[in-house]
Amino acid sequence: GKSGYDHFMLKEIHEQPRAIRQCLRGRVDEMAATVDIGDLGDLSPTGVQFVACGTSYHAALYGANLLRNAGIPAQAFLASEYATSPPPIGDALVVGVTQSGETADTLSALREARKRGARTLAVTNTVGSTVARECDHELYIRAGPEIGVAASKTFASQLAALNLFTLGTTRVDGKRDIISALRDLPSNIQAILDESQAKAVAETYVDSDAYFFIGRGLQYPVALEGALKMKEITYKHAEGFAAGELKHGPLALVTEDTPVFAVVTGDGEMARKTIGNVKEVEARNAPVVAVTDGQSDVGRYVDAVLEVPETHPQAAAVLANVQLQLVSYYVADELGRSIDKPRNLAKSVTVE
Ligand code: M6R
Repeated sequence: GKSGYDHFMLKEIHEQPRAIRQCLRGRVDEMAATVDIGDLGDLSPTGVQFVACGTSYHAALYGANLLRNAGIPAQAFLASEYATSPPPIGDALVVGVTQSGETADTLSALREARKRGARTLAVTNTVGSTVARECDHELYIRAGPEIGVAASKTFASQLAALNLFTLGTTRVDGKRDIISALRDLPSNIQAILDESQAKAVAETYVDSDAYFFIGRGLQYPVALEGALKMKEITYKHAEGFAAGELKHGPLALVTEDTPVFAVVTGDGEMARKTIGNVKEVEARNAPVVAVTDGQSDVGRYVDAVLEVPETHPQAAAVLANVQLQLVSYYVADELGRSIDKPRNLAKSVTVE
């Protein structure tokens, strides 16, 4: 059942601390700063191509970014496009990210890769799924069953699992800091769930024409995911953009009736640039909501702030996403939408 929550989605958003704990259990040793992902630790990929759809594609974009930071050439592809026109694979490991393990587009991309001689890995939530049976290797995200059609806790668990994969197969710098940030994720997510102002933000902006989400680097997939969630469960127009792309066209859509959610964590070069983009939309009178850890001064330029605890940049993406999940959830709830079963959508998409 829904354990007292109005919707499975809200329950599953609240299950994220536990989902992450399960994902990490027995796989990280904080004292030794090591990660044990079993035989996968021997994969040492020299290149990675991710294939995935929807929310899982956003996780794949994040995973590719992590691997590139660790010096491994990596790219994320939409599975449907990859299956239609596969790129040269070389000796890349092809990684399918799929919660259900049954998504036809993703299975078809992986089959195409295998036909061309590629080794394949499934990152999935579902033991015994088709993807797990067909791939050479599996990494389980261990989120537990997700009933809501909109993916929530499985996205958080995918991000955690992709961190484990990167830590376990590469020589990425600063492993100790990343591991400790992963270990802090459950309590940091809990703090957000306990204190979030997302409901108030949702009530303020529920009547808007459209919603835009911007982010840079690891926060770019979070912006895309924020927009997808908003579309799926509220039926409102929403788009996610790389913060730097806004001025190359989408800025023409920005008005005083289109709130812009800007994900700005840290206080480095990336934050500074995104704050520049925030000023561009402010100048068009759009309301701006910053999802921020308060390290930069973005709060001075915006109409509302959704706070996340300060942490490692890789973990910050997981935290920012929780705030955006809550905003979409509460907008959908205000509008009386069918949150757990949005119109036209199915939990598992088994046709191409
Ligand atoms: O089971 P999968 O992870 O392969 O599903 C992929 C997408 O169909 C899925 O993420 C979809 O976008 C969700 N409804 C997102 O909330």
